[in-house]
Amino acid sequence: MIEEIEKIPNSNIMRDDLNFKYYVSGTWKKSSSGKMVSILNPYNNEVVGKVQACSIEEANEVITVANENRECWEEITQRERAEVLMKAASIMKEWALSLGFIMMREIGKPLKSAVSEITRTAEYFEATAEAGLQQEGEAIFGDSFKGFSRDKMSMTYRVPLGVILCIGPFNYPFNLTGSKIAPALMAGNTVVVKPPTQGAITPLFFGLILEKAGVPPGVFNIITGRGAEIGDYLVQHPLVSMVSFTGSSETGKHIASVAGMKPLLFELGGKDAAIVLDDANLELTADAIVSGAFSYSGQRCTAVKRVIPMPGIADKLIALVKEKTLKLSIGDPEKNSTIGPLINSKQCEYVQGLINDAVGKGATLLCGNKREGNIMWPTLLDNVTTDMRIAWEEPFGPVLPFIRVKSAEEAIQISNESEYGLQGMIFTENVDLAFNIAQELEVGTIQINGKSERGPDHFPFLGTKSSGLGTQGIKYSIDAMSRPKVIVLNLSERGKLVKQCKYD
Ligand code: NAP
Ligand code: G3H
Repeated sequence: MIEEIEKIPNSNIMRDDLNFKYYVSGTWKKSSSGKMVSILNPYNNEVVGKVQACSIEEANEVITVANENRECWEEITQRERAEVLMKAASIMKEWALSLGFIMMREIGKPLKSAVSEITRTAEYFEATAEAGLQQEGEAIFGDSFKGFSRDKMSMTYRVPLGVILCIGPFNYPFNLTGSKIAPALMAGNTVVVKPPTQGAITPLFFGLILEKAGVPPGVFNIITGRGAEIGDYLVQHPLVSMVSFTGSSETGKHIASVAGMKPLLFELGGKDAAIVLDDANLELTADAIVSGAFSYSGQRCTAVKRVIPMPGIADKLIALVKEKTLKLSIGDPEKNSTIGPLINSKQCEYVQGLINDAVGKGATLLCGNKREGNIMWPTLLDNVTTDMRIAWEEPFGPVLPFIRVKSAEEAIQISNESEYGLQGMIFTENVDLAFNIAQELEVGTIQINGKSERGPDHFPFLGTKSSGLGTQGIKYSIDAMSRPKVIVLNLSERGKLVKQCKYD
């Protein structure tokens, strides 16, 4: 671990050995609390490093600093901001292997996926810089509204919101932090990041990256510590202008209840259902289901979390999915196994509880239901019924239920009964029918003949119901992190002045 960290230039300033500091005003500091939180590798439970358990006073300090530096960042040009983001992207690409390795150790993500999370973030920064440069305002004459004339004209342009508080989840600790930082900075805001505690080390490197890229001290800051201890204080702070949060629906609902009148941008949990019709291409469907359900051991908001097959193909589809699931590699994230450890043993116990409940109520166990350390074998459950918890709860682990139905109407009904509404999938060769079903599904996005997923990152990404608030995606996030400012020009003497302007 230490060898990988030392490959990153200047990383000695952010730590003493493997004890990482927090970042405020361009300075790396130890918490005056004297307390640290240990980050355990979920694969072998070894300590990967420690981060500062910052105090409420330090939470106040980072927000105050970000607020004091608003003007300095707001006043630099759009083009300069874009250049900073581009530079940051190229640094990320340069350091991608080391950062990916560190991430693999702290959250147990397969090494290849961890490295690609870093490069995806670099590409996100580049695309955000490009999209930010395209932003334009608009001018509107009053005469398009009844009773008004061209004597009135509005000019609208966008201004930053102020200080954006960015809180991310453990499963994409770098990308889902970066996809908040880039639009926030591009829109001219200053930033405070509160990374997930399990997964805090990798996003701390944003401090080094952004400083090297040219972000002035105090514009970008990171505070570490448990959400349960400093989260409410950060969210409620009057100098925080917006909370951009990705995490569980439970934490999201709590934040919404304490944040007060601030704009909130939330990406939360999901229970994405794949509806498979009788005419689907079953090879393609089974591949999409297995990859969608089990990559990073199912720890993705957009993982395929339910399959609802029609009677004509259910047996054949389930057999194919089982065959492909049994071929998945299981074990060490460094060896790129698809199935690796869940984030901690508490999560394994939760997932086990869902399996036990389903089997106890009569679900058929097709494979899996085995655990070693934090690794849970991919588990398929057939004949799942709506009285079972797995039909509704988000496992965030490698368990996939099949809920057999008798009609497309029933599939739509079960899909919509969920408290979540992130994405849905329809597998069929009949695009007309798919389009009709898509219109009935109460989710943010419907994938036709493909697995649920967030990217490409310039697409809008949103959830309905308990799955989110607002819309993200490159240009959507820049919009969400800025607001229109309107100046209205009232030309009372317009016609008269033109007529007076004669020189003969
Ligand atoms: P989580 O437990 O809700 O934590 C998310 C973040 O919130 C962490 O940084 C956590 O800090 C912080 N937090 C906890 N309590 C807080 C409080 N009172 N105030 C402010 N922040 C607080 O979620 P997770 O376990 O990391 O991630 C898994 C969940 O995220 C799943 O439900 C998944 O579906 C969802 N997710 C959704 C999306 C999406 O795009 N829709 C993407 C990824 C993940 P600590 O780590 O210090 O507790
Ligand atoms: O975990 C939630 C992420 O937003 C999912 O992103 O679909 O690219 O894996 P992904």
